[in-house]
Amino acid sequence: MNSTGRFITFEGGEGVGKSTQIKLLAQKLTDLGQKVCVTREPGGEKIGEQIREILKSSNSIDPICETLLIFAARRDHFVKLICPWLHQGCWVICDRFYDSSLVYQGLLKKVSIENIMLLKHIAIEDFEPDVTIILDTSPDVSIHRIKSRNLVNDEYDDMGRQKHDLIRKGFHKIAEIFSLRSILINAEGSEKAVFSRIWRALEKRIYTGRQNKNQS
Ligand code: TYD
Repeated sequence: MNSTGRFITFEGGEGVGKSTQIKLLAQKLTDLGQKVCVTREPGGEKIGEQIREILKSSNSIDPICETLLIFAARRDHFVKLICPWLHQGCWVICDRFYDSSLVYQGLLKKVSIENIMLLKHIAIEDFEPDVTIILDTSPDVSIHRIKSRNLVNDEYDDMGRQKHDLIRKGFHKIAEIFSLRSILINAEGSEKAVFSRIWRALEKRIYTGRQNKNQS
């Protein structure tokens, strides 16, 4: 396998099983001899984690204010963790990245896509994930998983079927627009079955080089 780092993002609605699949992928890559770093957004380093806490604890935040905070956290995460790790040859697996902003802040909260892309450019320039794995389940499966794991801990976990459906459609659109880097995975079924779908799709792309030019 190539020794250059790769940036792999996981996306999808609430309750699609990102955390489990991220753990399985990190283990698989480690077993294959790669140095693996796992991280999440909003979050990362100290500032990013503090912003995550603010976002999680405030239930009446203005959508633009929320978007600005998310991109501030992203900038800090990018500069302090993502870029250094990639330079060290680490395979970075990130639980959510800017596609989530397009879906949650853009589609759901009606912040304009132009403004989100402008903030994206300010925060991370033309940096893009090498591969984005989008986990896809029906709203029924998501709701069932959230309830059975007692995962209700923020406004999105507690939302109705209609919102789940809108978020799902948003990620389908992301898969369509960013078709070169995105892989839409059916995330219904056992953890093992879902992981083998991910691995089969990822293996095909994993040997190709990084396409980002801005890793200076
Ligand atoms: P999530 O990734 O589902 O993790 P957990 O439920 O385990 O804490 O939670 C992150 C939340 O942040 C999720 O509801 C989506 C939201 N979010 C945005 O609204 N915009 C973004 O750009 C990102 C990265 C996340």
